[in-house]
Amino acid sequence: MLTPKTIDIIKAITPLVAANAETITRRFYALMFEGDPEVKAFFNQAHQQSGIQQQALADAICAYFVNIENLKALTPAVELIAQKHCSLGVQPEHYPIVGKHLLAAIKEVMGESATPEIISAVSEAYEFLANICIGREQAIYQLQEAIAGGWTGYRRFIVDQKVRESNEITSFYLRPEDGGPLPAFLPGQYITLRIDHPTTPTSPRNYSLSDEPGKEYYRISVKRESGPKAEAPDGLISTHLHDAVQPGDVLEIGPPCGEFTIDPKSAGEQPIVFLAGGVGVTPLLSMAKSLVTEGVIAPIHFIQAARNSGTQAFADELYKLISDKDFVEVQVIYDDPMEGDVEAGKCDRAGRVDTEVLRQWTPFNIGQFYFCGPRPFMQSIYSGLKELGVDDSRIHFEFFGPRLAIEPAGVGSI
Ligand SMILES: Cc1cc2nc3c(=O)[nH]c(=O)nc-3n(C[C@H](O)[C@H](O)[C@H](O)COP(=O)(O)OP(=O)(O)OC[C@H]3O[C@@H](n4cnc5c(N)ncnc54)[C@H](O)[C@@H]3O)c2cc1C
Ligand code: HEM
Repeated sequence: MLTPKTIDIIKAITPLVAANAETITRRFYALMFEGDPEVKAFFNQAHQQSGIQQQALADAICAYFVNIENLKALTPAVELIAQKHCSLGVQPEHYPIVGKHLLAAIKEVMGESATPEIISAVSEAYEFLANICIGREQAIYQLQEAIAGGWTGYRRFIVDQKVRESNEITSFYLRPEDGGPLPAFLPGQYITLRIDHPTTPTSPRNYSLSDEPGKEYYRISVKRESGPKAEAPDGLISTHLHDAVQPGDVLEIGPPCGEFTIDPKSAGEQPIVFLAGGVGVTPLLSMAKSLVTEGVIAPIHFIQAARNSGTQAFADELYKLISDKDFVEVQVIYDDPMEGDVEAGKCDRAGRVDTEVLRQWTPFNIGQFYFCGPRPFMQSIYSGLKELGVDDSRIHFEFFGPRLAIEPAGVGSI
């Protein structure tokens, strides 16, 4: 346990650290990549470039300090971090490297106010959190190895099929090259793909499993990431997958990870609402298919948001869920319909998912909400749900990148 003295010091410095948290984490990554360049290969450089990883780490440090006397509140955050670390193969020996540079960054940014007493308390607090993460990560690795068909590290998979799902999303059906069994996963989990990119060495990427568990393959469905602005390059790995990877090629895959899941075996009768924005449909489709296959009797509401019929993926799989079960409802909303989309009934509505849509289309008083999509989409859903009085215990979401604050400014707890 942390000593009372350390707790007091952490409480005292929290406002100062919070005010400088992103400056500290930016400096931390710069120091670490310079001092220990071998760990750089773990980190997604697009997340560094946009600053979202620095932001996510700053949020995590602040949440830790704010909750230093209430560590139970951090359990979900620790689980998310541990799952992410395990997806990338982080090991106990990496923690002292991170600790060393984090402390150096704090010292540098806090300047003279970082007394030896403060540094010693921060060091003790870091070690304490590191040990919690290491413990959970070792348990996850052991589980990955113990499960039937399981593995740790990377396993070779053959691309069995490549299927175009929309103008910008393509699915890859992957089978283990060794012909062995595949471990079960919880719908909503993601795998990790390591690609030796021909021109630009880069970190592994996570992709949600888009089909339900229990198949002889894993399926991922990848959106071609085109640079949104002239100065932004095309996405490295998604473009490579779309353009260069073909059936018969081998990909290196890390085992399923992630805590954004639904367990069909423990789903009750409470309605379940899925809200998918763009390629964020992947984990939610896996969840919905799996609930139907497992015979869950809860009403399922699936709302899919897409730009138009050209970019909408998996319409056929979603509508098949309705024909299988009468307690499944699927509704589609386009924010930029193509000519004829609305007239042909390809969407139920044109527009965006806002509070009114949530009010009209969802059982907001009793439903459990699961959503995934671009950040503005998720922020809009979150604030709509809050407006409708939905408690956080009924709200579950996944970011396709480091987790950032979802609350509109001023509503957050940190
Ligand atoms: C848990 C999880 C699940 C995911 N599931 C899916 C899924 O099911 N399907 C899916 O398609 N994706 C999924 N993703 C996202 C996926 O991991 C990749 O991030 C995505 O494919 C983009 O990777 P990329 O290599 O193509 O792009 P990157 O090269 O990583 O670039 C990403 C973005 O950053 C911009 N960028 C890169 N470098 C710069 C720069 N120097 N300056 C300015 N802008 C820059 C690019 O233009 C691009 O828009 C998931 C992510 C997570 C964390
Ligand atoms: C107690 C120490 C640590 C804390 C609090 C911490 C915290 C975090 C957080 C909050 C995230 C973002 C998770 C998400 O939302 O996806 C993250 C991601 C990550 N962490 Fe850690 N971490 C710690 C130690 C380490 C160590 C030792 C390594 C090994 C080098 C490491 C490597 C990574 C990587 C590679 C990512 C993904 C980054 C990306 O997406 O670019 N972390 N960590």
